[in-house]
Amino acid sequence: MGGYDVVIRNGTVATASDVMQCDVGIAGGKVVALARELGKGAIEVDAARKLVLPGGVDAHVHLDQPMPGGVQMADDFESGTRSAACGGTTTVIPFAAQEKGQSLMAAVEDYHRRASGKAVVDYAFHLIVSDPTETVLREELPELFRQGCTSFKVYMTYDRVRLNDRQMLDVLALARREGALTMVHAENSDSIGWLTELLERAGKTAPKYHAASHPPAIEREATHRAIMLSELVDVPILIVHVSGPEAIEQIRWARARGMRIYAETCPQYLFLTAGDLEGEGFEGAKCVCSPPPRDKASQEAVWDGLADGLFNIVSSDHAPFRYEDPKGKKLGGRDVAFRYIPNGIPGVETRMPLLYSAGVGGGRISLNRFVALTATDPAKMYGLYPRKGTIAIGADADIAVWDPNKEVTITNSVLHHNVDYTPYEGIKVKGWPVTTLSRGEVVWDNGRVTGKPGRGRFLKCELPDPARPKPARTVSR
Ligand code: URP
Ligand code: ZN
Ligand code: ZN
Repeated sequence: MGGYDVVIRNGTVATASDVMQCDVGIAGGKVVALARELGKGAIEVDAARKLVLPGGVDAHVHLDQPMPGGVQMADDFESGTRSAACGGTTTVIPFAAQEKGQSLMAAVEDYHRRASGKAVVDYAFHLIVSDPTETVLREELPELFRQGCTSFKVYMTYDRVRLNDRQMLDVLALARREGALTMVHAENSDSIGWLTELLERAGKTAPKYHAASHPPAIEREATHRAIMLSELVDVPILIVHVSGPEAIEQIRWARARGMRIYAETCPQYLFLTAGDLEGEGFEGAKCVCSPPPRDKASQEAVWDGLADGLFNIVSSDHAPFRYEDPKGKKLGGRDVAFRYIPNGIPGVETRMPLLYSAGVGGGRISLNRFVALTATDPAKMYGLYPRKGTIAIGADADIAVWDPNKEVTITNSVLHHNVDYTPYEGIKVKGWPVTTLSRGEVVWDNGRVTGKPGRGRFLKCELPDPARPKPARTVSR
């Protein structure tokens, strides 16, 4: 067969299950051929000595999310998806967030407006449910599921958005009825508040005390409570941004009993520690996120969970706030007490290179597992597979061509987000995506962004997702 729009030639193609030497033929934005010595394409991409991987699916990012108290996210759909493309990610799933008292439908309509005309790669929406009224549960959520928003996040902390256990049960029961997936931010809110006041009374307000106010026990308890709530309702949940062994132990405990508890982790729990919150002066604010990074032993526990199947997905939790900005980390233009520092760090562009380099290059996970964690399994989890997350005939031609030998020292100047720092400054990685295609269109090519804002499309997620895998029963340690 000839007449391809694009042929990616002579590369090593890897999916979550296979590694093969073949060309990829693309027509009409889809993969249409996988074979050696394909006929000529209108565009030829030379992938000799390169890896040809599915474009990443980053299923936990925050872009242009309305924030309280004068805080502004640094990335909108344009800069956030541009940065994603340059890091080999071709699908992002940010959050349409409901304020208490607000209609969820209105939040989603507003979010569609924010995305309109801006995205460089494709995107879907999760919902954030902060006010599960009767109308939200009976009318709005079922309607939004039909519109392709089939997953929602609930918070057990942050006064502005947190649900109590009874509300959690209400939304979990709804998720069970409809087959939707609930993502849980598991931290014990009252304990964080109590510790925060204790620290403040002792004059301990520097960024490093954010970690002291969010100790692992707080995450462990909430993780166990979320598991118990999911058990009562008999519905799967996904525990997001798991930071270390305490929460991991709870998830292993549940899995060993056959419960469908999925788990996500993020690069900050593999590459940062609480020590990074202790930088000079206010610098530690750059690494303030919740849960906070822990210690070296916790990093090892997270690596083990990636290798042995405990974790289903790796997301960035890209939550971008500028450092030198009165609407960002230095809220109001000052070195504020830790409780006022916007929580979250940027990472949509560095997620895959960091994991590839230390994970695959470092011999901790296989190339197939890397693809599964960063692309295939998030697509399955959220009802986007096999359109996204794999390289297969009929799939969208969302593909990243990686140079596995390209050495990069991460510094903020090589990144494409709108944040004025990276928490990974100075880390050396080997392996970087050199060309990214979204639906067959080259959007990032050897240091040049070629994708136009507005070309990215909204993706409807399937409900329920028949491909969503049952989590492996990992063995308790
Ligand atoms: O600190 C974090 N993780 N900020 C982003 C919001 C969230 O809870 O994921
Ligand atoms: Zn969260
Ligand atoms: Zn988040």
